[in-house]
Amino acid sequence: MKFFIDTANLNEIREAQELGILDGVTTNPSLMAKEGISGKNNVFKHYKAICDIVDGDVSAEVIATDYKGIIEEGEELITIDPKIVVKVPMIKDGIKAIKYFSQKGIRTNCTLVFSPGQALLAAKAGATYVSPFIGRLDDISQDGMELIAQIVGIYRNYDYQTEVLAASVRHTMHLINCAEVGADVVTCPLNVITGLLNHPLTDSGLAKFLADHKKVNG
Ligand code: E4P
Repeated sequence: MKFFIDTANLNEIREAQELGILDGVTTNPSLMAKEGISGKNNVFKHYKAICDIVDGDVSAEVIATDYKGIIEEGEELITIDPKIVVKVPMIKDGIKAIKYFSQKGIRTNCTLVFSPGQALLAAKAGATYVSPFIGRLDDISQDGMELIAQIVGIYRNYDYQTEVLAASVRHTMHLINCAEVGADVVTCPLNVITGLLNHPLTDSGLAKFLADHKKVNG
C-alpha cells in the first residue's frame, strides 16, 4: 500500500519524505488556503516546491467546474512538473474531463467520491486514482471503511486499473483497515503515519534493553 501525505505544508512534506516511506502528496484548495497560498503564480510555485521535495505523485486540484475550464486548468497544471496528477471533482463535467485526460495520457485523481456508483464512473472514465473520503462519511454516521471495501471489490471484479486512494483518513485504525481491505493508497496527515510507530511495549522494551546494556557497560 502506498502512503501519501494529505497536506500543502512544506515542512510536513519534508519530514515525511525524510522518513523514507512517502510515496506521494495530495492537496486540495482548503489545504492550500490553510498555508495562505493565493494567486495563480504562487499556487503554481507552491506545487513546484512540493514536487521538488517528494519522490512521487502530487495531486493538484482544479478550481474550474465546467468541462472546458477543467481541461484548460489541468493542461496548465501538468506543465509544472511530470509528478503532477490532475485532481478533478466527481461531477458530470469532471467525468467528461477525466475521459479526455485519460485519452491524452494525462493522469487524474477523481476526488469527493462518496458512493460505489461514483467510483464506478471514475474507473470507466479512466481515472488514475479514485479518492473515496472515509472520515467525512463517518462524520455523517455512514461507514467510510465499508465504501473502501466495496470499491476495492468492484474494481477487482472487472480488473479496473484505477487505484483506490483512500482519503479523509483521520486515524491509524482507518489506515490499518485500508490495508486490510486492500486499498492501493492512503492519504492522511503526517501524525497518522507517525502514529503507527507507537506501542507501549516498544517503549518499555527499549528502556529495559538500554538499562541492561548500561548495567554492564557503564
Ligand atoms: C483528499 O484528497 C482530501 O484532500 C482529504 O483527504 C480530505 O480530508 P478531510 O476530510 O480530513 O478534510
